[in-house]
Amino acid sequence: MLRIFILIVCNACLFAQDFSFSNKIKTILNSKCISCHHQGGYSPVVLEKPADFKKRKEFIKHVIETNIMPPWKADSHYRDFANKKALSAEEKQSILEWLKKDCPEWSPNTSIPHYVNGSQLNRKPDLVLKMKKTFHVPPINQNVYICYKIPYELKQDTFANAIEFIAGNKQVVHHASYQVLEVDEDVDIYSGPEYFRFDEDTLNRVTDEHDYRFFNLIGKSGNFPRETYHGGWLPGSGTQEYPNSIGIRIPKKGVILIRNFHYSPTPIEQADLSGFNIFFSNKKSNRTIGFASFKPKNPGGSGDWLIKANDSAYHAQINVKFHQDISLLNINPHMHMLGKSFKAYAITPKGDTIRLVNIPQWDFNWQEFYRFKKIIKIPSGSVLHADAIYDNSAGNPNNPHHPPRDIKFEWGMNDDSEMMRLVLLYLPYQEKDETISLETKKDN
Ligand code: HEC
Repeated sequence: MLRIFILIVCNACLFAQDFSFSNKIKTILNSKCISCHHQGGYSPVVLEKPADFKKRKEFIKHVIETNIMPPWKADSHYRDFANKKALSAEEKQSILEWLKKDCPEWSPNTSIPHYVNGSQLNRKPDLVLKMKKTFHVPPINQNVYICYKIPYELKQDTFANAIEFIAGNKQVVHHASYQVLEVDEDVDIYSGPEYFRFDEDTLNRVTDEHDYRFFNLIGKSGNFPRETYHGGWLPGSGTQEYPNSIGIRIPKKGVILIRNFHYSPTPIEQADLSGFNIFFSNKKSNRTIGFASFKPKNPGGSGDWLIKANDSAYHAQINVKFHQDISLLNINPHMHMLGKSFKAYAITPKGDTIRLVNIPQWDFNWQEFYRFKKIIKIPSGSVLHADAIYDNSAGNPNNPHHPPRDIKFEWGMNDDSEMMRLVLLYLPYQEKDETISLETKKDN
């Protein structure tokens, strides 16, 4: 009798121990893998339950050991970020151990994450907005650019701390740059067409005024819409998220205007229904996040706007002087397929270097809006430098041309061109901003 009793007790304690280990793993997998690998999520590969991991155990071990997954291209030694997806050495070790043990089950009582509507956040979106109609990308094997209006109304002005673009059809959505716009009371946001299509040649000539008139967004008194937020999405980029104290104002009546919605060339017709998840904040904020996009003035250092075939180290730079104190929130480097590396930093008037971001091995598929752990103050008079290197040799496995061809730099957006952009999301500086943490988990 005593013997049986002891056995039962030991079994129970063994089980409890097993669950505590796999429950710990579940917490890591939840934020580092399942956020993208859930049903309807970013990746078509569903990894939700221990059995899903067990089935692909060897392959998962490989992608973790080689740092292919989770995707994270920024050098964490140069600058660490609040939205870092990469695993810490400890997390990696624990997952590998769990795989080695054949992916033991976690406790059935652990909470089920809420990854709703393709979101990468474990929260239910408060407002889900979608394109009104499916857009059919024509089978013309050319880039297609549209400007799309999504109107919405709320009971009152509301604040959000996260906004997420959900690409409907990831095979063709190349990128999207969007604005949240407040309009006058008398504007009929539902009138007029949903979108217009433009081509590369007119891209730089499409003005704000043209777009606002086209969508009937100008008030009777002639007021233009007011931008309360400007965001972007690129392949691999996650949710734009902020602490409640910063917040994004979502005006009571407005539109999200996807100003530059780019679809990649496709030989067969593709349907897309993209949209947004918006997560409200419990605090008001009187600060408006600014958006600045920089491009190189003097590529190649010699005015040479051509990346010659077989040039494995074409260099381009951005140098910009700041004339006011800036509080940096977020940084996004951008290049296309020939990109090799990208580094950005600022030199203050005192000569100090502020490291911003370093991507030692550029990967077009994984582009991110890197959010700093704390706000970074860039003092007035500082110069922002960005150095990009491109590899147009046959040695670049992503080179779209075999053999390599001369490629135009900063001229058009197709496979025969390359580009360099550096986008910053920022606030005008206020005292003590540099003490504000941008790690949202703390106050969400
Ligand atoms: C930011 C979103 C994201 C995160 C986080 C992420 N993945 Fe992925 N993963 C993807 C996408 C998207 C693909 C598909 C890539 C493709 O098709 O080229 C993928 C592909 C994979 C594949 C290859 C599937 C196949 O059969 O080709 C495996 C295995 C994988 N991920 C495992 C993981 C594991 C394990 C983690 C966590 C340690 C993780 N991923 C984290 C987005 C993510």
